[in-house]
Amino acid sequence: MRARDVSVFYGPKQAIDSVSIDIETDHVTAFIGPSGCGKSTFLRTLNRMNDTIASARVEGTIELDGDDIYRSGMDVVQLRARVGMVFQRPNPFPKTIYENIAYGPKIHGLADGKDHLDQIVEKSLRRAGLWEEVKDRLSDSGTALSGGQQQRLCIARAIAVEPEVILMDEPCSALDPIATAKIEELIDELRGRYAIVIVTHSMQQAARVSQRTAFFHLGKMVEYGETSDIFTNPREERTKDYITGRYG
Ligand SMILES: Nc1ncnc2c1ncn2[C@@H]1O[C@H](COP(=O)(O)OP(=O)(O)O)[C@@H](O)[C@H]1O
Ligand SMILES: [Mg+2]
Repeated sequence: MRARDVSVFYGPKQAIDSVSIDIETDHVTAFIGPSGCGKSTFLRTLNRMNDTIASARVEGTIELDGDDIYRSGMDVVQLRARVGMVFQRPNPFPKTIYENIAYGPKIHGLADGKDHLDQIVEKSLRRAGLWEEVKDRLSDSGTALSGGQQQRLCIARAIAVEPEVILMDEPCSALDPIATAKIEELIDELRGRYAIVIVTHSMQQAARVSQRTAFFHLGKMVEYGETSDIFTNPREERTKDYITGRYG
């Protein structure tokens, strides 16, 4: 994905100021920065989730495979399948585990009959590292799973519609350390198959899971580069101040 001079406003208030970034396919990209600096706002521009906020207005251009996602006539439902999203709080549908995964492929016409749909469900749950835990209880409610399992279910749900990009907004912030470690492992396994962008307030997490890091501050992207460089040899004073804990 390629963003150029992207600014976002909520009514008169500017939340993102002229951000340009190329999100690379075969990497995990972390967005870090203090609370309120615009990480979630910018992440939501990448699949037009800001469209759902009445006061939000986006300027600039964002392309997916060279196609302007804000052009008129863009199918936003299709876009959000290609650029999936996982939220802070796991939000499975109040439906069975099976239906949570099968719903997207059904509405997007990806399944050629019941056997094929079963295969998609199994493959998605396997990729999300959840199959062994749920294969005997596919007709239980998704909401009956533990928090960590629910988050992996949401990742499986995103995977089921064959996305190119998966956006994750602090996906571990509601999880315990063991569930967090599982999600981090999963992100590493998914790397290369999907472009992954993860917002995290944990610099340790960014260092563990990402290969590219973008540091945001007061609505601007201050610095973007290889994760190891950002954490060991940042170019910008503001990045250095943040990673050394001078402000949070
Ligand atoms: N729905 C909204 N309506 C109005 N202002 C918002 C909305 N969401 C976020 N903001 C404002 O935009 C700025 C950036 O917020 P956000 O993107 O949530 O930052 P972060 O994810 O880095 O904590 C903040 O000042 C926040 O108050
Ligand atoms: Mg946020």
